[in-house]
Amino acid sequence: MPTDRRRFLACATMLTAGAAAPVAGRALAQSRSSGSADADAEPVPPPIGGEPMRRPIPGTRETLPAIGLGTADAFDSSTQGLQQSPLSDVLAMLLRTPGSVLDTAPSYGTAEAVAGELLRLHNARRQVFLATKISAPAASAPAQWARSQRELHSEAVDLLQVHNLIDWQENLRFLRQLQEQGKTRYIGVTHYRADAHAALEQIVRSEKIDFVQVNYSVGEREAERTLLPLCRQRGIAVLINRPFQDGRLFRAVQGKPLPPWAGELDCASWGQLFLKFIISHPAVTAAIPATSKPRHMRDNLGAALGRMPDAKQRERIAALVA
Ligand SMILES: NC(=O)c1ccc[n+]([C@@H]2O[C@H](COP(=O)([O-])OP(=O)(O)OC[C@H]3O[C@@H](n4cnc5c(N)ncnc54)[C@H](OP(=O)(O)O)[C@@H]3O)[C@@H](O)[C@H]2O)c1
Repeated sequence: MPTDRRRFLACATMLTAGAAAPVAGRALAQSRSSGSADADAEPVPPPIGGEPMRRPIPGTRETLPAIGLGTADAFDSSTQGLQQSPLSDVLAMLLRTPGSVLDTAPSYGTAEAVAGELLRLHNARRQVFLATKISAPAASAPAQWARSQRELHSEAVDLLQVHNLIDWQENLRFLRQLQEQGKTRYIGVTHYRADAHAALEQIVRSEKIDFVQVNYSVGEREAERTLLPLCRQRGIAVLINRPFQDGRLFRAVQGKPLPPWAGELDCASWGQLFLKFIISHPAVTAAIPATSKPRHMRDNLGAALGRMPDAKQRERIAALVA
């Protein structure tokens, strides 16, 4: 069988079977049969690939799937009736790749509570790499963390981050205490704007942290200059937020066909091209695109499959989008 055909079949099997997560698969089947699954679904062509790409957390034996899930806006919904909601299907798809990053924050409206409730319904807390944040001034951080534990139905998380560098010195001290107490395995800092990269770089140079979460995409490449190489050099894992610039990238290419050479990268959609641009950067551990739609989740997960762009192909993607 030709390689491409074999890859296609392997991928199609993986995306439809959900064999790695029987609970999630069952929940997905249930919500489908209840008619809840993404009523306005449009077909997303199955991408081509084998095993989803994983990246190591530097200095550990642990790897993370290169595509995770963000929850800002997308999960800010009612906490009622979640079992039958499209968000349940979105999570079920994430669960097919064990250990995937699920990133949330106490400041995302109800998103943290929705994520926690969905994890409870799927009995899946241990199947995700759960990341949340301290989004409050240092004086309110302990109370906010206690609330996050309740919302997430979890005593401990995998990653706790100082959100947008709020009171970062004091909040990092608090995170270190929690790390020592076993309440979080890793600690980090986040921001979503290029004008904060210099501050992030300073922290990477001077503090002992495990993760940086930062904005990076084919439309916002500033992190490439110093921050990403620095994280790589210092052995710090990198999560990428705003991979689609909060959806702006899709509006930029609306109505435009994918270039024929996207097939050489096993990309079946613009979303996959945007995400492959990101996760093929050697400093990137995982991207965390947000979505509320199962068909978009399936599309995004496909970006971790198949061939990845090399340096020249990455420039070709950037030139096309520019
Ligand atoms: N300071 C921080 O720490 C910080 C800041 C920003 C973001 N973040 C984290 O990063 C995550 C991602 O960033 P973001 O939420 O700003 O935006 P994003 O992931 O760049 O874009 C999300 C938008 O893209 C759409 N979308 C997703 N997949 C798609 C697909 N395959 N095809 C078409 N449209 C698609 C979503 O709409 P649909 O729902 O319709 O799919 C949504 O409108 C956040 O959720 C959050 O977890 C952290």
